[in-house]
Amino acid sequence: MTESGPVAVLGATGQVGSAVTRALDRLGVPSHALIRSGRPAAPGVSTRVVPEWTEEGLAHAFAGCTSAFVMVPLVEHAVELGRTAHAALERAGVRRVVRLSVLGGVIDDELTLGRLHAALDADLAARDLASAVLRPDSFMQNLLGSATSMQQGSLTNATGDGRMALIDADDIGECAAALLAGTAPWPDTPLDLTGPELLTHGDVARRTGRWLGHAVRYEDVSPPALHAMLLDFGVPGFLAGIFAELAAWTRRVDREEVMTDHVPRLLGRSGHRLETFLQAHASVFAPAAPD
Ligand SMILES: NC(=O)c1ccc[n+]([C@@H]2O[C@H](COP(=O)([O-])OP(=O)(O)OC[C@H]3O[C@@H](n4cnc5c(N)ncnc54)[C@H](OP(=O)(O)O)[C@@H]3O)[C@@H](O)[C@H]2O)c1
Repeated sequence: MTESGPVAVLGATGQVGSAVTRALDRLGVPSHALIRSGRPAAPGVSTRVVPEWTEEGLAHAFAGCTSAFVMVPLVEHAVELGRTAHAALERAGVRRVVRLSVLGGVIDDELTLGRLHAALDADLAARDLASAVLRPDSFMQNLLGSATSMQQGSLTNATGDGRMALIDADDIGECAAALLAGTAPWPDTPLDLTGPELLTHGDVARRTGRWLGHAVRYEDVSPPALHAMLLDFGVPGFLAGIFAELAAWTRRVDREEVMTDHVPRLLGRSGHRLETFLQAHASVFAPAAPD
């Protein structure tokens, strides 16, 4: 329980935000889920509806909360949305904020995603409040969109032999909740959050295949080809561009690989391994799931 009352959770219907509210609930800390429509964030979670992220609307929704979790959706005006949210936090008198950013190595001027998150990390740091920045590697949840193709025996990406320490978004939410609840120490510097092992997409295909009980082949395409495929699938251009840039960055041979122990330090347990994630989402990855 925080001394400071309920925790505001922005993006509470999202992959990480929903995990933050669930984890706070398990820790006995009340939260206010800030959502855009009347759709509840999670059963039993108190909600405040903010249809548009205006400074006034968000400040009203943050009122009475001295701590908050904030994120930005990946839309073209994400920086503007994030700055508006940060201004609203200050205006409402929120004192402690956990922000969802991206892996430190991605904070790079050459990457659209890096510029976006660098701008928002800096904006929050300049505000009159205490901020903790979580910088996760790619989410395991990104694999959900490839579940059908993996059932059919293939996984396509453009990351070459680049290894990532994929992380379960549930672990990120749990880390944020631990900081906000005070069960983990407040960090002085941004935390790169990773999963427990470095994997190529080839490794992911092999391991998922073993779990499914049949071979899954990894098909590596070029980043421009991935971009074109994503557009064909109907992914918005801004997002397709980000994914293609990230794949090109991941496959770079001069890139430093990063794996940290922040998740076990914050949670007192290891981060979820790939198979744990697959099992938790067995209804998607294998409608007739292995035990
Ligand atoms: N995916 C990865 O591998 C990865 C890795 C590192 C960092 N990240 C960062 O994680 C963040 C995304 O987190 P997530 O995956 O938990 O998010 P998500 O599941 O995509 O959810 C997005 C949330 O933002 C809300 N939202 C969407 N569009 C909005 C808009 N125009 N105005 C206001 N709210 C809007 C959604 O509300 P509704 O439900 O109402 O639509 C939802 O609550 C991004 O900043 C990304 O850079 C992602």
